[in-house]
Amino acid sequence: MTLSSMIRSSKYVVVLTGAGMDTDSNIPDFRGKEGWWRNIDPRTVATIDSFHHNYSLFHQFYSMRLRMLDGITPHKGHYVLSELESKGLIKSIVTQNVAGLHKMAGSRKVYELHGNIRSIRCNSCNHTAAVENFLKKEHCKHCGNKALRPGVVLFGEMLPSDTWEAALKEVEKSDLLIVIGTSLEVYPVNQLPMMTKGKTVLINKQARGSEGLFDVIILGKAREVLEALDNSLAE
Ligand code: APR
Repeated sequence: MTLSSMIRSSKYVVVLTGAGMDTDSNIPDFRGKEGWWRNIDPRTVATIDSFHHNYSLFHQFYSMRLRMLDGITPHKGHYVLSELESKGLIKSIVTQNVAGLHKMAGSRKVYELHGNIRSIRCNSCNHTAAVENFLKKEHCKHCGNKALRPGVVLFGEMLPSDTWEAALKEVEKSDLLIVIGTSLEVYPVNQLPMMTKGKTVLINKQARGSEGLFDVIILGKAREVLEALDNSLAE
């Protein structure tokens, strides 16, 4: 059974994406060969402790990631998913990615479980701020604390509960869950593939060992697999 025939014969298709969906837009993943955590220990930069006890290193890491996003755009694969949504062939996207490329490509029902790196807020008073304010290491204009941070879920923090609940409902409703570009190493998102009663497909650049979970495994780059899917659905 091909991916396009599985999509065509399903009523509620949901897509779950990870960092491997964005690497074809030149955003590094975390655990791949050139991934962030190959060279940096996430406990030093991406935990709520690092925010509180080593703000300068925390700030340096997220400023670098924000600056890297200048000029970054969605790739064809993001647009294919957006077009599939507008044709009613997929219902929603649940993503761990924080650069917002699915929404930039026009996808409307997107659940950003790990937040969005460009949405800056004060960790003390929750007041929002601009990326510029964070990059300049400014204090919060509202409460004066030096506590500006990106609106991403740090290790040690809870996921946004309303987003999590809504995404879980989507997966539970799905009769086809397509998982793209994730190592499924991070809880609780790695539980989602077990939450669907439907069929499951994994699209990944290389085998990760969690393949036993899936009905269909497609080894390949997200952009290329989605371009091929687009062509086969057009036939
Ligand atoms: N096409 C398909 N798969 C790819 C591609 C690609 N172009 N590039 C990389 N991959 C695969 C990698 O082989 C890897 O299995 O995508 C997966 C990415 O895994 P991770 O780097 O662990 O990213 P992710 O699963 O999204 O990480 C989850 O961990 O650090 C936290 O908050 C961070 O949201 C992130 C979470």
